[in-house]
Amino acid sequence: MVAWLCLGAHVRIANAQANNLPAIVEICTPCHGVDGTGGDVEKPNLAGQKSIYIREQLLAFRSGKRKHPDMKSIARDLSDREIDQLVIYYSTLSPN
Ligand code: HEC
Repeated sequence: MVAWLCLGAHVRIANAQANNLPAIVEICTPCHGVDGTGGDVEKPNLAGQKSIYIREQLLAFRSGKRKHPDMKSIARDLSDREIDQLVIYYSTLSPN
């Protein structure tokens, strides 16, 4: 059991390093994880999601077109460049 937990953490860190974790991702990891898998049923997985889709959702949260209290307060402070980094990061993670 302990061995599996360690292995899991190791894989996640390796995955993040391989993808050059941008600093801005730290805002998202408490909910969406470093590996892009949500921690509970209410947090959607982002790993391997289509880049166009992730961008559209972040722009929609930022503008208020898509409504969610947590995502609204986070997305409203994101710059276009930060959104680019986040889209590249999560869309290139392996979904499993
Ligand atoms: C406090 C927790 C929390 C944090 C922090 C957070 N999110 Fe979310 N995020 C959510 C929840 C909950 C949803 C689901 C919203 C809904 O039900 O409409 C969501 C939805 C999304 C979606 C839409 C996914 C889909 O399948 O439609 C994207 C994209 C997203 N978040 C990206 C991010 C990014 C990028 C960050 C960091 C800048 C971030 N989130 C930070 C909780 C969070």
